[in-house]
Amino acid sequence: MVEDDERQRRIEWLGQVCIGLHEQFGPLTEGAPAAYIPELSNVDPDLFAIAAVALDGQEQLTGDHDHLFTIQSISKLLLYGLALETHGREAVLERVGVAPTGDLFNAIELDEERHRAPNPMVNAGAIAITDMVGGSREERIEGSAAMFERYLGRRPEIDDAVWKSERATGNHNRAIAYLLLSHGIIEDRVEETLDVYFAQCSVLVSARDLAMIGATIANSGVHPVSGEQIVSPRVARDMLTVALTCGMYDYAGEWAYTVGIPAKSGVGGGIVGIIPGAGAVAVFSPRLDEHGNSVRGLRVFEALSEEFDMHLFDFDRPWTRA
Ligand code: DON
Repeated sequence: MVEDDERQRRIEWLGQVCIGLHEQFGPLTEGAPAAYIPELSNVDPDLFAIAAVALDGQEQLTGDHDHLFTIQSISKLLLYGLALETHGREAVLERVGVAPTGDLFNAIELDEERHRAPNPMVNAGAIAITDMVGGSREERIEGSAAMFERYLGRRPEIDDAVWKSERATGNHNRAIAYLLLSHGIIEDRVEETLDVYFAQCSVLVSARDLAMIGATIANSGVHPVSGEQIVSPRVARDMLTVALTCGMYDYAGEWAYTVGIPAKSGVGGGIVGIIPGAGAVAVFSPRLDEHGNSVRGLRVFEALSEEFDMHLFDFDRPWTRA
């Protein structure tokens, strides 16, 4: 039981450090909430939460941890898992590769050789993945809602104002979708697919929810509280791989170098960092940098990674199941 005591001590220590980092980075007001989706700029920019969830479901929560915000691109990671579960790796790879782009998350570009979306973490990839969810518009929205319900433990709520706002202003995504259509990667129902994609991005989550989602993936796809196997260990592995290589967009290389754990960010201000075999940490703070990543979020993860030897290639990392 010495090991259990040690694990417990470490989880509580993590909670204390999160409280300290919340105080330390609270005064940081660099960056600005996303404005290209008009409704997102209405958020209170000072909101700030840090949440951690261990594999046994224990939570360490700081700040505005129950405040709901739109999940945005973090949904891409979950949708990728659903597509892999439903269609298998080969079918998904036909449409979406696994190469980091080094470009903006909404770059209008495809894989040069095969004309697939470059990876599932950028908008092109997520739109292609969304097209794979079959059925009528309502059935497709329900299909992804059912998936969110398993992660969240409740019916997902959609922020209608953000959903509408994205629909009204999402011409950049329309350009991406038509490029995908012209190469036969998606079917000829662009408006409908985008509507489903925007709905997914507008699902409301808290920092605490994000940490629970991350802990599920860290736990080989088993939800720490419900015990449900949401994705298979193999699919969880694929999700972790693309989160590590592509989850932070054109910042992914720097992130892997400094923080060194799989992660996914969204323009709603959330970042979830996943520590395989240990748990997950989520930060919510809506001020973003030029890459679309939360400024305070980056600082918190850099400090945490340093303090806890979280980097996957830290030789003494204590964050393993064994
Ligand atoms: O499609 C979009 O542009 C947004 N709904 C999602 C983008 C996003 O979250 C990128 N994240 N940093």
